[in-house]
Amino acid sequence: MADSRDEPLVLGIETSCDETGVGVVRGTTLLADAVASSVDEHARFGGVVPEVASRAHLEAMVPTIQRALKDAGVAASDLDGIAVTAGPGLAGALLVGVSAAKAYAYALGKPLYGVNHLASHICVDQLEHGALPEPTMALLVSGGHSSLLLSTDITSDVRPLGSTIDDAAGEAFDKIARVLNLGFPGGPVIDRYAREGDPAAIAFPRGLTGPRDAAYDFSFSGLKTSVARWIEAKRAAGEDVPVRDVAASFQEAVVDVLTRKAVRACKDEGVDHLMIGGGVAANTRLRALAQERCERAGIRLRVPRPKLCTDNGAMVAALGAEMVARNRAPSDLGLSADSSLPVTEPHVPGAGAHSHDHDHVHEVSKDNLYS
Ligand code: KG4
Ligand code: ZN
Repeated sequence: MADSRDEPLVLGIETSCDETGVGVVRGTTLLADAVASSVDEHARFGGVVPEVASRAHLEAMVPTIQRALKDAGVAASDLDGIAVTAGPGLAGALLVGVSAAKAYAYALGKPLYGVNHLASHICVDQLEHGALPEPTMALLVSGGHSSLLLSTDITSDVRPLGSTIDDAAGEAFDKIARVLNLGFPGGPVIDRYAREGDPAAIAFPRGLTGPRDAAYDFSFSGLKTSVARWIEAKRAAGEDVPVRDVAASFQEAVVDVLTRKAVRACKDEGVDHLMIGGGVAANTRLRALAQERCERAGIRLRVPRPKLCTDNGAMVAALGAEMVARNRAPSDLGLSADSSLPVTEPHVPGAGAHSHDHDHVHEVSKDNLYS
């Protein structure tokens, strides 16, 4: 085996939402994972306030980078590359990370890699369970996305099999927590309450699970409305709302659909393992039910530890290191943040990079020249 010091040493910066994350990895080894969160500053608003998040990133950026380098025991000059989330996410928040990454890359003379937040949520599992199998079947469940993805190479090929047609899974957790007055973010607190509740107490609907529904798409907005109405009816009748049972029954409806569809996708595609990533992958019940159903179906489950599921810088560094290892073209210093970067673009190469799009443009101009 190659000396691990031959593996790329990459710093990753994540600022797509309210976490300022800076990670350092060498190949698939995690060296540091520093996170500064502005979550407390948003709590009283019941959701992330973009301007507040951007300002917090700006204040936390340099100290968090310094802390990550110190924790990793490496000097900035030793790095082989700087990776940064280029999208998707909040535009102003992304801009802070992208600007910082460019400044460090330029000052240190290191290659810059603009990477996709969603692909990073998948790639992070390499830090926990080693190289991803190819293809990888991934269930990606976060605050902004819920998709089933099939990837033959996490740096270049990510194909959506299905996605949510309305709310993301994490968004549903956040909204129901708000209706139950449990605060923000909703996922962790619902997870906690649900542990003491009965998941079979209330039969909430399972969206898009009918025989004619799209096999791999998700829908959580009907469930959300149904839970909200159920709570309203209890309150209108002057009865106590059984918060633990509502939390457990709601959570069960979400994770039942997620795991059922993910296992089905693995079987249909002949993939013998399932990766689950994104903030909702930290959910205790999702992890347990996925384990149970995967075992029954002979599928190997890969889920990173909870701290690596929610937003962090290590995931960005992990994908950046994979980019370096696979000789992907760096981004140029004109890299811009793209708040709606599609999941199908794991990496944002520079204008001079050899990409399919670029070939296409080149050919068109040649045609024009000679015709
Ligand atoms: O990946 P992430 O940290 O940020 C985005 O990229 O969106 O995901 C955040 C989402 C939030 O909606 C949060 O409520 C949810 O993940 N979440 C959870 C848990 N921890 C975080 N949902 C369910 N159970 C959890 N334990
Ligand atoms: Zn995320």
